[in-house]
Amino acid sequence: DGPRHVRAVVVGTGYGAAVTALRLGEAGVETLMLEMGRQWDTPGADGNVFPGMLKPDERSTWFKSRTEAPLGSFLWLDVVNKNITPYAGVLDRVAFEEMSVYVGRGVGGGSLVNGGMAVMPRRSYFEEVLPQVDAAQMYERYFPRANAALGVNHIDKQWFEETEWYKFARVSRKQAEKAGLGTTFVPNVYDFDYMKREAAGEVPKSALATEVIYGNNHGKKSLDKTYLAAALGTGKVTIATLHQVKTIRQRSDGAYLLSVQESDAHGAVLATKEISCTYLFLGAGSLGTTELLLRARETGTLPALSPEIGKGWGPNGNIMTARANHIWNPTGTKQATIPALGIDDWDNPEHPVFAEIAPLPAGLETWVSLYLAITKNPERGTFVYDAATDRAALRWKREQNAPAVEAAKSLFDRINKANATMYRYDLFGARLKNFADDFCYHPLGGCVLGEATDLYGRVKGYRNLYVTDGSLIPGSIGVNPFVTITALAERNAEQVVHQDVTPA
Ligand code: FDA
Repeated sequence: DGPRHVRAVVVGTGYGAAVTALRLGEAGVETLMLEMGRQWDTPGADGNVFPGMLKPDERSTWFKSRTEAPLGSFLWLDVVNKNITPYAGVLDRVAFEEMSVYVGRGVGGGSLVNGGMAVMPRRSYFEEVLPQVDAAQMYERYFPRANAALGVNHIDKQWFEETEWYKFARVSRKQAEKAGLGTTFVPNVYDFDYMKREAAGEVPKSALATEVIYGNNHGKKSLDKTYLAAALGTGKVTIATLHQVKTIRQRSDGAYLLSVQESDAHGAVLATKEISCTYLFLGAGSLGTTELLLRARETGTLPALSPEIGKGWGPNGNIMTARANHIWNPTGTKQATIPALGIDDWDNPEHPVFAEIAPLPAGLETWVSLYLAITKNPERGTFVYDAATDRAALRWKREQNAPAVEAAKSLFDRINKANATMYRYDLFGARLKNFADDFCYHPLGGCVLGEATDLYGRVKGYRNLYVTDGSLIPGSIGVNPFVTITALAERNAEQVVHQDVTPA
């Protein structure tokens, strides 16, 4: 008897985890994926798997009694969020003292809730952030591999110019151009052909029905439809859902012993299990992976872990902001939820910014232009273990986002000046606020490549223990991060699965 033993365990089912599981499965390695969220494949009472954004229910949010949408107010009124029953919903907002982080929960991780923007970083910036990695190899081999497997596609530019669904983006583009700023089309994993058919009324609507942050019922190639489907197809990979890894120990024979809590979707604990494995891959995301390793180091279950674990965290310079347009410049009552354009001012020597032109699909005219700006903020946070709560706490001060706000302000001040427009101050809570600097979508770092791990994600101090996800990237990548996370995981998996792992 004793705990169940599997050859390899992958914790999480996001980008890094999904890549790793597929490559392990292809190599013939019996692999168990442990995911704390649920599988999103069963329709609820309304016939849909995911709830809509305008009428969110319990499926929207990870164990809260009220939804916590990023745009929490309108005209300072608390009209956006709804009371709900606590449930294993798809979007979580993890609140640290001075920074909140949005993450996806469920089979597919962030791919279930994100905007699908599939952007490769500027090569020069990639080289600056990860000088330890061979950029030529990344751009010739692993980025193309990731893009192909993720199902990245491009919008039909002619359709973009004609459709009412992207009027909001064309309005913002024109205003950016007036300020001398260029825009660029952004590839996506949402199927743009499907979107065209939505617009034509041929198929059920998703991106054109305000769906995105609480899941897309159609059209999006989330990981459960790409990498994870392929991983399961190897016949070697299985996924256990609503299984949360709590602690990691090592046995004297070198195997890893995990304590895992199984719950139902309403939060009732069903069992606490021990699972042992020869190879352990952590793909629980920047927050999840870092917390597991910090807890192991600080409680002494893996005492030889590096002091670098917990360091090098950043929000990818994320700042959300919105502008108010003139009454004669409406942004449209119909808005696709999937962004298609970005304002690219990354070559600005003083304040590099890449700002996605985001929709505000409220179903009514708002005259709002919304943006998620990615800036180059050199500030970094550190995770520390808090014994009282048994959780990782993030040491990050609000002031550390000042350089990011300054960069976003410099860009949007230019746009406002050129168009004689103003900021909106009513969208980010009850107080006057024009830059949302207290939450992010792009948590990166905590177990930085080459610092807490070797150059391929092997965790320092232990054999057969690996990090595969966004925690490897030191806090910033200059664009939306999932393509980079995927490509880096491809690179590391190719090395590690071939060099370290034997199937049995
Ligand atoms: P990821 O977070 O995807 O997966 C981790 C998984 O591990 C989760 O499923 C989690 O439940 C699970 N887990 C955590 N701890 C666990 C434990 N102890 N036991 C078991 N399971 C555990 N990026 C981009 O490139 N383009 C975009 O358009 C967007 N847009 C966007 C919008 C929104 C609303 C969000 C929240 C995020 C984005 N992102 C994005 C960011 C992107 O989704 C994110 O960078 C990646 O999902 C991170 O991938 P990882 O592999 O690091 O982990």
